[in-house]
Amino acid sequence: MIDTYRADRHVFQPWGAQDGGARLEITDGAGCWFSDAGGTRYLDLASQLVYLNLGHRHPALIDAVHTQADRLCVVAPTFFNEVRDELAAALLDISGTGAGRVLFTNGGTEAVEHAVRMARGHTGRAKILAHYRSYHGATAAAISISGDPRRWPNEPGVPGVVHFSGPYTYRSDFDATDDATECERALRHLERTIEFEGPHTVAAVILESVVGTNGILVPPDGYLAGVRRLCDRHGIVLICDEVMSGFGRVGEWFAYQRWNVRPDLVTFAKGVTSGYVPLGGVIVAEHIVESFSATPFPGGSTYSGHPLACAVGVASVAQIAAGDLLTRARTLGATALAPGLRALQQRHPSIGDVRGAGLFWALELVTDRDTKQPLAPLLPGRGGTEAMAAVAQSLREHRVWPMIVANRIHLAPPLIVSDDEVEFALGALDHALDVADSYYRA
Ligand SMILES: Cc1ncc(COP(=O)(O)O)c(C=O)c1O
Repeated sequence: MIDTYRADRHVFQPWGAQDGGARLEITDGAGCWFSDAGGTRYLDLASQLVYLNLGHRHPALIDAVHTQADRLCVVAPTFFNEVRDELAAALLDISGTGAGRVLFTNGGTEAVEHAVRMARGHTGRAKILAHYRSYHGATAAAISISGDPRRWPNEPGVPGVVHFSGPYTYRSDFDATDDATECERALRHLERTIEFEGPHTVAAVILESVVGTNGILVPPDGYLAGVRRLCDRHGIVLICDEVMSGFGRVGEWFAYQRWNVRPDLVTFAKGVTSGYVPLGGVIVAEHIVESFSATPFPGGSTYSGHPLACAVGVASVAQIAAGDLLTRARTLGATALAPGLRALQQRHPSIGDVRGAGLFWALELVTDRDTKQPLAPLLPGRGGTEAMAAVAQSLREHRVWPMIVANRIHLAPPLIVSDDEVEFALGALDHALDVADSYYRA
């Protein structure tokens, strides 16, 4: 009998306790599916950690690695490299930034660290304003900026970070019951926060254009544009963190494009290469680049713009465009996932809220719709419950691998997911929600 669950004896686990038990061994993947060591296949509803936008074993991405590896595996950032330049040009093009430049990093955390440093250098100010209910990465500045309990054991954090509440109509911090009021009150709250902090001390507002790990919170129409206006009024840099929401996840190249807003800095990672080779970076608008045209930028890394990663990036952008996957994500979200999930909500009282866009959705599970009592603690990393574990187990038994965060099921399948696979996922969810319902008003 093959042991499909194995405990690490040599690998130190990120984020978890080291005696956290055995984990499923994955040995193979194709498209939206992966297989464990025993040959059982699972539909990957989480795209691993929301990065496998083009699915497992995509031939064009594999070919890009092979071709580039045959030609030039490594080249230091000190040299000009064609594939690196090609990817930067493509990113400027799809981001709508036009002129500008791209700083490449090894992942999303580093992108945030460098974006913050750019904003501070550009403005000569220190403070960074960030949402509660956000995740921006794991190193010193990025975890300090994160409005997520993973910050707590890492405190004291870097100085100069101020958190504020963003819009979340289902559990409004502003006692609003509709999106328009939530938007207006959230903007007023940010305006006051800036005033009390001293606008001349604020370098940047950073936010996830659509909040990911902390709940798939799609901001109401007008929110991002309102934040942009406040930033413009006070000369504050707007950083949109697109690490999770970029590269087609919500049916746009970058989620801010849904609302025609132009950030000054865009952080990206994950979907840029579907994770095949780690890559991240910052798309930098021209006026910020100018601040560093004579003054050296004080940051960088050995592997910045690694050619293997950039080659996969070029191929990924080309594949998303060629497959018209932005339209596909928008359409599948609107015609299959949204109605399918809302139909489940009709049948299952444990679904308190359904929200999302494109191929990025969350089901928020409750034990009581009136009180909105969550089925597990609301904040990520605050411990699960037997109920959420049972829901996850049911999904796995129906061959769907979910992303479970706090009291929510997050759905973020690869952009290449088929109509049939979406139906398959909805069927598995139907069973798992029976399990959740058994805890309703228990
Ligand atoms: C919005 C956001 N920003 C930053 C990060 C950090 O990226 P990485 O894990 O690649 O360092 C993440 C990771 O999940 C993220 O979701």
